[in-house]
Amino acid sequence: MPHCRVCQHETLERFLSLGPTPLANRFLNREQLEETEPYFPLDVYFCNTCCLVQLVDIVPAQVLFREYPYLTGVSSPMKTHFAALAEEIVQEYHLDPGSLVVDIGSNDGTLLSSFRQFGTRTLGVEPAANIAALANTAGVQTINQFFTPALAEDIARTMGPAKAVLATNVFAHVHDLDSFLQGASELLSADGVLVIEVPYLVDMLDNTEFDTIYHEHVSYFAVRPIVAILTRFGMGIVGLTRIRVHGGSIRVVVQKSRTQQARVVDRFLTLEAERGLSFVRPYHEFAQRVHSVKDELIELLRNLKAQGLRIAGYGAPAKGNTLLNFCKVGPDLLEYLIDTTPAKQGRFSPGMHIPIYPEQRFHLEPPDYALILAWNYADEILEKETAYRQRGGGFIIPIPRPIVV
Ligand code: TYD
Ligand code: ZN
Repeated sequence: MPHCRVCQHETLERFLSLGPTPLANRFLNREQLEETEPYFPLDVYFCNTCCLVQLVDIVPAQVLFREYPYLTGVSSPMKTHFAALAEEIVQEYHLDPGSLVVDIGSNDGTLLSSFRQFGTRTLGVEPAANIAALANTAGVQTINQFFTPALAEDIARTMGPAKAVLATNVFAHVHDLDSFLQGASELLSADGVLVIEVPYLVDMLDNTEFDTIYHEHVSYFAVRPIVAILTRFGMGIVGLTRIRVHGGSIRVVVQKSRTQQARVVDRFLTLEAERGLSFVRPYHEFAQRVHSVKDELIELLRNLKAQGLRIAGYGAPAKGNTLLNFCKVGPDLLEYLIDTTPAKQGRFSPGMHIPIYPEQRFHLEPPDYALILAWNYADEILEKETAYRQRGGGFIIPIPRPIVV
């Protein structure tokens, strides 16, 4: 029986098995199509002691994050979101030109570059060598390492303590949460803030967002387990809001040496208790809905195909690969995928081996229907592709359940 990664108890209960699955961001080149692809179990567990939803089959971070295709800057809604976040942090927490902002998992530097206009000092920490290099070339100073307490100490010694430590879309990736929080705590100034943005478990359950489950995401957070972990470090939540990002996330603002949690935390804990999130039942119900989505999606795609219609995939996000592999949607159903990320173009989707092209392909050879795999950007995509829609092109949004628009 496996141990819970956080409370160490042997009280894990598996509620969903997505089967052996390839790594969601391991897009293949033509030569790799001939090689054996690594598959790992993708099973999700609930801990009956600390309530953390988690994976047990852990793929080492060195394997997942040393080379990484994902770029924040290619999705314009994320750029807008991060520009607003930077402004809010500067104003709300009184950052001035001397203040140091450290972004953990800083990717291509999109978020840090939004601090430029405020004159703060910035530093990125990014383990993927290819992406750290991009950021440095773009003038965003970035250290190409995993974030550890030792590195945090190093940064604090050479650059001084940080007024803001940012952890957007990285907390769910962290295997050792203790080491991460210890590092953040060492790096922060006494009045500094740790800003975490992480997908919210309530949104994942409400919208049946099972495709956000992949090996990189080792934890699926509700507020309750976050409070428990922070409390162990003497840290407290000073701000908590729900945000639209990635199908529904929370922004958690944390300070060290805070024993009291902000009052808003109670509202979230009440909501989570009302949903029964401390018991395994809602997770089993979620798993049933996941299987229904699979059945409905396959039926829909097969029906369209049977009518001789052509279907493509819109976007090649990591989550799309969970969906395609679990639902067994391959090149027989989707002719191609398009994606704006250069490193994904000319490659093939992991597992299903669907070819990926730049956006132009969609306009040159428009399909009859496009399955929006980047459904978190569905509004923006529908707006962007009005010409395609006016000519009669259809879109399929797979989540919370497959619909045609
Ligand atoms: P995203 O949903 O941010 O992440 P994840 O990989 O974590 O599931 O990925 C969105 C992908 O969709 C990304 O590869 C860029 C691509 N994309 C497009 O191709 N066109 C678009 O108009 C948008 C908004 C995104
Ligand atoms: Zn536990």
